[in-house]
Amino acid sequence: MKKNLILGIETSCDETAAAVVAAGKTVLSSIIASQIPIHEKYGGVVPEIASRHHLEMVNEVIAEALLQANCSFADLSAIAVTHGPGLVGALLVGVNTAKTLAYALKKPILAVNHIFSHIAANFLVHEVRFPAVCLVVSGGHTSLFYLTSRSEAALLGATRDDAAGEAFDKVARVLGLGYPGGPAIEKAAEAGDAGAFTFPRAFAGQDDNYEFSFSGLKSAVINTLHNLKQKGQTYRTADVAASFQQAVVDILVEKTCLAAEAKQVKTVLLAGGVAANGALRQQLEQALAAAGRTLLYPPLELCTDNAAMVAAAGWDLYLQQKFAGLDLNAVPVLDNLWQVK
Ligand code: KG4
Ligand code: ZN
Repeated sequence: MKKNLILGIETSCDETAAAVVAAGKTVLSSIIASQIPIHEKYGGVVPEIASRHHLEMVNEVIAEALLQANCSFADLSAIAVTHGPGLVGALLVGVNTAKTLAYALKKPILAVNHIFSHIAANFLVHEVRFPAVCLVVSGGHTSLFYLTSRSEAALLGATRDDAAGEAFDKVARVLGLGYPGGPAIEKAAEAGDAGAFTFPRAFAGQDDNYEFSFSGLKSAVINTLHNLKQKGQTYRTADVAASFQQAVVDILVEKTCLAAEAKQVKTVLLAGGVAANGALRQQLEQALAAAGRTLLYPPLELCTDNAAMVAAAGWDLYLQQKFAGLDLNAVPVLDNLWQVK
């Protein structure tokens, strides 16, 4: 048997993914079957359709992950699976697949928190020095964490309403840019003037407040477009995209720098789908560097949902022998990480 191989399974949203990772660090394979083309025509993820496609794809994706890693089921040390947060029907496919494999193969199950797996994507590519602050920005989450080790995190603040990625997706839909909105807005913004419109930055200038809010920003964009249309005035989509993106980036940069300063950390991590955004990476990196801090982020393919990050997060549970039972269930809302200090 090969040593320390973890199979990761991810089905929390619209990506069916499986990966084999050695010792929480070396990615031997990472297979992602994206459902984006399926959900595109609806302008967002349709949960029931997502579940059905996970079911169709999951075995194939796992088989491919083992094949590319050149290993068999018998070689695995454990099976890590995302059990929440996410779409319950989608999560259930991964959880039940993991439980079936674990039972049949007599291998332990590692129940991974999706948010924490996004953070763990950084551990696959960086030697992270702790303590660190991590900004998790995805389609479902916008949270700032204080990390004292790979598996210990304290929540500093989160969004009160929409996640940053959700705002990108909704604004993109209103602008007719398609789904997913993040990459589309980023591309459109390249040709736009970020100062053309002034959109709100919620909780800006408030020290000691690490909360976010993006629903007001989304409404402000929608209202602005509505007013312009009513007055028969034209606008450049690129300018709206750039101004919106800048409002999101400004507040993410401000709050992250505030947290890094308060916690006096040298290292800041960026994680989640929105971490793929070039403007965010660049501006956050610059702002942190000015204070002598380093920003680390995963490569693009590890920012959005994947299973290598699930196996990486699972590795820490494996080392601590924190195994889940066959009664493991999907948890759509799972706010607490496994070791909140
Ligand atoms: O982490 P992820 O794949 O799934 C969730 O856990 O939610 O994140 C998906 C989100 C979507 O809202 C998508 O629009 C956003 O990440 N996203 C981006 C970019 N690429 C993906 N947002 C801004 N800029 C991008 N380049
Ligand atoms: Zn995600």
